[in-house]
Amino acid sequence: MAAEVQKTEGSPAVRAAVALGATAALCLAAMVFVGPAAYPWLKAVHVIAVISWMAGMLYLPRLFIYHCEAAPGSEMSETFKVMEGRLLRIIINPAMIVTWVLGLWLAWQGGHFAAGWLHAKLALVLVLSGVHGYFSASARRFAEDRNTVTSRQWRMWNEVPTLLMIGIVILVIVKPF
Ligand code: HEM
Repeated sequence: MAAEVQKTEGSPAVRAAVALGATAALCLAAMVFVGPAAYPWLKAVHVIAVISWMAGMLYLPRLFIYHCEAAPGSEMSETFKVMEGRLLRIIINPAMIVTWVLGLWLAWQGGHFAAGWLHAKLALVLVLSGVHGYFSASARRFAEDRNTVTSRQWRMWNEVPTLLMIGIVILVIVKPF
C-alpha cells in the first residue's frame, strides 16, 4: 500500500506548486495593480490560507499519535511517513507562506502596525510558526524511525495549535487593545 501511495508522489506535489505559484501571481498582481481596493479580497485569501494551515496543524499531530503506535518498518508506519510528508509539503508549508505574506501586507496596507492587538497576534503567530517547525522536524525524525515522543505526549501537543488559534482569532476580531 505504501509503495502504491509512493508511486503517485510526483503529481500532487507538482499540482500544489502550480496552485501556489498561480495564487502568488494573482495576489502580487492585486497588490501592485489594484492596491487598497484589493484589501477585502486579499483578506479573504488570507483567511482561506489560515484555515488550510490550521487544518494541517490539527491533523499532523493526530497522525503522529497513530504513527507512534505502529511498529517501525511496518507497512502502516511507512504509509504514515508518506501521509505526513505530503501533508507538510502540499498543504501546511504553502499555507503558512501565504498566511504570512498576506497577513503582513494587510497589516501594512491597513496601517495596523502600531496596534497592540497586532503585536500580541504576531507574538502568538510566531509561537505557532515555531510549533510548525517542531512538527516538521518531528516528521523528519519519524521518517528516519527516530521518534522518541510518546503517543500521550503527542495527544498534549495536539491541543497546542488549537489554543493558539483561539487566542489569535479573538485578538484579530475583538481587537481588545
Ligand atoms: C502570519 C502573520 C499574520 C499577520 C501579520 C496577520 C495580520 C492580519 C491583518 C492585518 C488582518 C486584517 C485585520 C482587519 O482588517 O481588521 C488579518 C485578518 C485576519 N486574520 Fe490574520 N494575520 C496573520 C496570521 C493569522 C493567523 C495564524 C490566523 C488564525 C489562526 C489569522 C486569522 C485572521 C482572521 C480570522 C482575520 C479576519 C478578521 C476580520 O476580518 O475581522 N491570521 N490578519
